[in-house]
Amino acid sequence: MAAEVGVGMVGLGTVGRAVARRLVQRWELLGERAGATPVLRRVAVGDLTRPRDVELPQVRLDSNPEELVDDPRVGLVVEVMGGVDRASALMDRALRARKPVVTANKAAMAVHGLELAALATEHGVSLRYEAAAGAGIPAVAVLRDSLRGDLVSSLEMIINGTTNIILSRMERKGDGLEDALAEAQRRGVAEADPSADIDGHDAAAKLVLLSRLAFDAAFATEDVDTVGIRGVEPADIACAARLGGSVKLVAQATRTRSSVVLTVRPTLVLAGHPLHGVDDADNAVVISSDLAGPVLLRGLGGGGDSTASAVVSDIVATVRAPTEPPPLPRLRPAAADAGALDRGAYIRVRLRDVDEAARLVVQALEDRGLPVLASQALAAGAGDAAQLAVVTAPVAGEMLERALETLDSLAVVAAVVTSMDCVGVA
Ligand code: HSE
Repeated sequence: MAAEVGVGMVGLGTVGRAVARRLVQRWELLGERAGATPVLRRVAVGDLTRPRDVELPQVRLDSNPEELVDDPRVGLVVEVMGGVDRASALMDRALRARKPVVTANKAAMAVHGLELAALATEHGVSLRYEAAAGAGIPAVAVLRDSLRGDLVSSLEMIINGTTNIILSRMERKGDGLEDALAEAQRRGVAEADPSADIDGHDAAAKLVLLSRLAFDAAFATEDVDTVGIRGVEPADIACAARLGGSVKLVAQATRTRSSVVLTVRPTLVLAGHPLHGVDDADNAVVISSDLAGPVLLRGLGGGGDSTASAVVSDIVATVRAPTEPPPLPRLRPAAADAGALDRGAYIRVRLRDVDEAARLVVQALEDRGLPVLASQALAAGAGDAAQLAVVTAPVAGEMLERALETLDSLAVVAAVVTSMDCVGVA
């Protein structure tokens, strides 16, 4: 009889059900690919009474995750329950028992991943987390395995499906944030607490995981300058479209001479940039490195099946190489100052009803060393003042700050309404 590896899975939500289906329905194929058959033996859930549309013959289903981890019939633990503390404690328990772990949990990995990876290494077992950043998009594998001879200079990513669905619907259908969020929730992409998506924390966690691999440095979520999408106004989405772009929540990691700057911010993505046109539930990761140049990975970044693709692939890899240690970053990250980085800027101002106000704003920016590459005037409507949106050439954050202060003090400017990063400027 072919060898088997007993799998215990903690969590049976959208992702867990899709993983269970694949393990139960395709065990033979997976066994051939892995060299031994991963057999789902036990599942632990939080609420046993909840109805679930998945058949689990010969699988023990209960609500005892610790017992599951300790069960001698379980040789590989899959964590898809979410949350930070309990999930991390279960992974810790499994690794100490020399049981390899596969997880989809970006929040837990961002907070405790370094300790867990050290523990896995100490106990000689693997810890895999492909699903934690970009779901089925194989970003972890590309950074960990495929680009091991390269020096990565930057990551640019749309890595949160919920905010991408929201911003796409605001742009195309004129939805408000709440209605658009309801759609993301209906599609099973949003987090249980969607503020993790909307406020940028989910994207920041994924940025940390991928940056640890890309730059071999032990980043933490506190290293990310994070701004979510609550402040994005319909007027910016409209101006972005007129300027030939879209507003997206973009996560970036940029190597500078002495550090890596990590940011998650609403950003105007202009046509021509590889992230332009990455809409709706799609995610994309652009990795720039010295030998390979820019590599674009794009696909569904969330949802049950896409995430299960990564989890099951990790299960197969684990069955093949259960003792392969996870990568552990060697470097402590240097303090990173986003202000030192040159980036294009999008600025929207409300004008006073004065002749040549728009021209004077452009003049003031150029006098401050910010070349204006494109501008869009919004005529005054009933009760509304005229507005001006501009895109500038890349400038250091500190210079931009000073230019914004100048605009604020101009007699022709009633208010500086928005300033955000802009990518794709020539
Ligand atoms: N809430 C996440 C997102 C799910 O919207 O991308 C996938 O990690």
